[in-house]
Amino acid sequence: MRYLTFALGKGRLAKQTLELFEKIGITCEEMKDKESRKLIFVNEELKLKFFLAKGPDVPTYVEYGAADIGVAGKDTILEEGRKVHEVLDLGYGKCRMCVCGDPSATPLLRHHELIRVATKYPNIAKDYFYNMKHQTVEIIKLNGSIELAPIVGLSEVIVDIVETGSTLRENGLEVLEEVCPLSARMIVNPVSMRMEQERIKDLLMKLRTQL
Ligand code: PRP
Repeated sequence: MRYLTFALGKGRLAKQTLELFEKIGITCEEMKDKESRKLIFVNEELKLKFFLAKGPDVPTYVEYGAADIGVAGKDTILEEGRKVHEVLDLGYGKCRMCVCGDPSATPLLRHHELIRVATKYPNIAKDYFYNMKHQTVEIIKLNGSIELAPIVGLSEVIVDIVETGSTLRENGLEVLEEVCPLSARMIVNPVSMRMEQERIKDLLMKLRTQL
């Protein structure tokens, strides 16, 4: 039997995923060692391999088949637009992709003004404004602390993740429009989907009983 390889996005998502896997009897003790700099972990009995990657790289590993299966946020999956099959909503990591800004930006959105939109997710922002809303905007790609942009006058609004809403509140910003709901998803390489159909079906069945 060949190894089934999993790519997990580093951080909280990976922790929750490993907790979920434990519940269905998939363990990987060596992965819990926080001191370790090891990148890949093996469960010999079950013929499984796990590795931790940067979140946005997970769909890349899965598209190319370097991992059969991946767990990533829906935000990452949408933004990366890779050829992978999304097979399961894992239900955790729940948050929303939103257009946010100062309430004074509301009429600019309503009147389809040519505004500037700062975001870590240019593809999601483009799809939302161009294809869904038919509003021409200027997209400005940033890499973090997106909430700064409307405060310092870089953009009128942002497209960003809202979880508790506290970052927005503490910075006097509000959700102006909702783009889509987000959560952790399981993705599968299209070839693995066919070649490892039985093992993947079995895994999905077991996971569903825990959701
Ligand atoms: C994310 C997101 C928001 C914040 C939302 O940022 O970009 O800034 O979390 O969470 P909240 O609604 O619970 O306040 P993250 O902390 O991942 O860092 P970043 O600024 O580098 O994107």
